[in-house]
Amino acid sequence: MTRPRVLSGVQPTGSLHLGNWLGAIRNWVGLQDSHDTFFCVVDLHAITVPHEPGRLAEDTLTTAALYLACGIDPARSTVFVQSQVSAHSELCWLLNCVTPLNWLERMIQFKEKAIKQGDQVSVGLLDYPVLMAADILLYDADLVPVGEDQKQHLELARDIAQQRINARFSPKDAHGEPIPVLKVPEPLILKEGARVMSLTDGSSKMSKSDPNEGSRINLLDPPELITKKIKRAKTDPTMGLEFGNPERPESDNLLGLYAILSGKGREAAAAECAGMGWGTFKPLLAEAAVEALRPVQQRYAELRADRATLEAVLQQGRERADTVASESLQRVRDALGFLPA
Ligand code: AMP
Ligand code: TRP
Repeated sequence: MTRPRVLSGVQPTGSLHLGNWLGAIRNWVGLQDSHDTFFCVVDLHAITVPHEPGRLAEDTLTTAALYLACGIDPARSTVFVQSQVSAHSELCWLLNCVTPLNWLERMIQFKEKAIKQGDQVSVGLLDYPVLMAADILLYDADLVPVGEDQKQHLELARDIAQQRINARFSPKDAHGEPIPVLKVPEPLILKEGARVMSLTDGSSKMSKSDPNEGSRINLLDPPELITKKIKRAKTDPTMGLEFGNPERPESDNLLGLYAILSGKGREAAAAECAGMGWGTFKPLLAEAAVEALRPVQQRYAELRADRATLEAVLQQGRERADTVASESLQRVRDALGFLPA
């Protein structure tokens, strides 16, 4: 019996924050025993917006170390760097040539990022979801655990696999039945933590690209800074924390964070904080955040101090990923009719 395959990734831009952890990486950890798991650092995606070449390599190592610190185990998972497996770029090109341009122009993330960049928008930014589709389809992934914001990209990957490749290019077996070229993946979006909002505006998502550092808690922020950011987080004049009140997005977000970070769950957290003022609640939340991140930060420091081991993990991951990816790339090349090498 082969285990279902999982693939996911995070960009090595800036530092990872609570949204990346709670929306994505945390959900990867529990899949390692039941699934065949692949986790990549998507550095090719990181250059779709202007980047600093002097930082890319270090940020890539930092992100990989954070995966491990959050509980990704290289003995059970394949951890690798996207740009080190050339099949990603190559499949992206092949998929580019079958993907309608208007599918990309309507992507919400593209439109949002494009507005911020004015006339500096690169072709790569538009093409971002096709590269992401290549990441996923190369590994025949059954499941892709991501935060809510990536749902549209996942649907695009499914449409490319199904409508643009399988429906048009599948070879036939002896009975004339099509043999699908690519596996059509499913998103895995867990409700809790799927959308962590900004500390300074409960109606916009916590994001690496927000210029205001106070809007997010980074996984490597020291305890004093975490406490300070939570102390300054936006509140409202109402007493008592609650979920689901559309007029009180900050209450919903911070109570949700408390529920996860304290390990108490939503019901117990809601009951505990229902009559609590913000001034009592914030120190509780700060402590829960500091305590939840403490073991991650400790493991991170150890891992980052031993560069040789980290690089060996990525080298081993690269080899395993490359074996799987080369095979599926070859399937697509054959289906599209290229002259065999
Ligand atoms: P990115 O930071 O764009 O590379 O995102 C990496 C992963 O983190 C993706 O699976 C995103 O869906 C997830 N993610 C990013 N920001 C948030 C957020 N504010 N809340 C929940 N998940 C998020
Ligand atoms: N686009 C994803 C994000 O910003 C990152 C990503 C790239 C990804 N390739 C992927 C996630 C493949 C899952 C699978 O969050």
